[in-house]
Amino acid sequence: MKAQDNLILTIFGASGDLTRRKLIPAIYDLYQQGLMPERFAIVGTSRTAYSDDDFRDRVLEGVKEFSLRDTSDSKLLKQFREQLYYQPLDTKSPQAYANLQQRLTQIDEDQQIGGNGIFYLSTPPSLYETIARGLSMQDLHQSEVGWRRLIVEKPFGYDLDSAKDLNAKLLQFFSEDQIYRIDHYLGKETVQNLLVTRFSNGIFEPLWNRNYIHHVEVTAAESIGIGDRGGYYDTSGALRDMVQNHLLQVLAMTAMEPPIEIKAEAIRNETFKVFQALRPMTQEAINHDVIRGQYIESTVRGQQMDGYRQAKGVAEDSRTETFVALKCFIDNWRWGGVPFYIRTGKRLPTRVTEVVIHFKETPLRLFSSKLAPSQQNNQLVIRIQPNEGLLLKFGMKVPGMGFQVETVNMDFHYSELSDAYLPSAYERLLLDAIKGDATLFARGDVVEAGWAFVDPILKAWKNDPEIPLYGYPAGTWGPEESDGLIEGEDLTWRYPCRNLSDDGSYCEL
Ligand code: BG6
Repeated sequence: MKAQDNLILTIFGASGDLTRRKLIPAIYDLYQQGLMPERFAIVGTSRTAYSDDDFRDRVLEGVKEFSLRDTSDSKLLKQFREQLYYQPLDTKSPQAYANLQQRLTQIDEDQQIGGNGIFYLSTPPSLYETIARGLSMQDLHQSEVGWRRLIVEKPFGYDLDSAKDLNAKLLQFFSEDQIYRIDHYLGKETVQNLLVTRFSNGIFEPLWNRNYIHHVEVTAAESIGIGDRGGYYDTSGALRDMVQNHLLQVLAMTAMEPPIEIKAEAIRNETFKVFQALRPMTQEAINHDVIRGQYIESTVRGQQMDGYRQAKGVAEDSRTETFVALKCFIDNWRWGGVPFYIRTGKRLPTRVTEVVIHFKETPLRLFSSKLAPSQQNNQLVIRIQPNEGLLLKFGMKVPGMGFQVETVNMDFHYSELSDAYLPSAYERLLLDAIKGDATLFARGDVVEAGWAFVDPILKAWKNDPEIPLYGYPAGTWGPEESDGLIEGEDLTWRYPCRNLSDDGSYCEL
């Protein structure tokens, strides 16, 4: 394998939770596997006045708590610690960038890095432009001898206009091929496996279209509430937080045409085409095909759970949705007329993300079954998390007299691969950014196309107080009204359990 280029990774917003819980542990995990370049430095910046040692202590605690690899080798931890630096920085002060420039030059010289650098923006989005400008004023956005890249965390914009505006502003200082927009779902092993399942198997692709597929479900359920993120979440909501980015990307992986090659531009072009083909949400579609909800107080297994409005940072009369379910269509030759259902929510019964492909029924029902006709149809469940794997449901003869049919499961679980190590999404994405591979990052036009799809819904919710916001008790599957979305007699969502093979009301959550 080609060794990675040496580099300095500068993190803005380094006193935050993301740095401690995800970024530094992911970099350590890469380091522990020998995947970091021979020479590298990590420079944390934020307003907090840490010394190098304060920062090192803080993030190394995070490594011990959140790393997915072995952290017992104290010599290795010590070596890793020495690669970490901290530079206090007020993003609004021009002098701060001059100081940063000096510090980076010094570290580059000391460690003989050779000019390569990544700037990781993990600050509130309102600072992205300021930081990009500050970097460019010190000429840090480019290097005569090495390369420079910018990684931008989500949320990328607040609606279509602000996303366009942000793209335009960043492009004043960095070119599109220098900008890596994070969507951590793309970093998930099992999301990438969607492409492999589809395009490395001859048996699925011929069936992957309107002739054989009845409908597709994409569910991302979370059992947690919003914790201490009320301030952010109350201005966001489930549609912005999960659908516009993560779930549309999963939808695109499920629905895209085969790319001509597994390279950034080819895959992003196909993603873009799916987004372009999404049927625009009309007023009528918004009224009928989009359900929003907010969790309310309830008692779950004897434990009292607060409602969303009781959370810190949330307005007492908040109308922010913590649940959204919608039906949409991809108007192209492959998918014409096939409904896609997307559902996500906080404080649902369990944490599950999965795609369910529901195949059409057989042309004639020859055998009797105790199940409703719709439940006899084949389903392919692609489980993204937890209990990652694939499940195919199909009919089998019940042993004995007659021809009674029962639905059985054929399943594959990643955990069965004894040596399988599933890297964290951040591990994969950081390594790709270091290598300069943008395949799993969102391109500017793709992000805008995602916003263009959700924008009419956001506008309608904002402007029309008549559109209901349903309350649902914490710990349930969201508003009952979302069941009515699925077209077809006796069809409902799959109610998944923690274990991939189980579903229904009785299962381990
Ligand atoms: C984040 C959202 O992008 O994704 C969170 O802001 C959400 O609200 C999280 O909880 C879900 O990610 P994962 O990897 O836990 O499914």
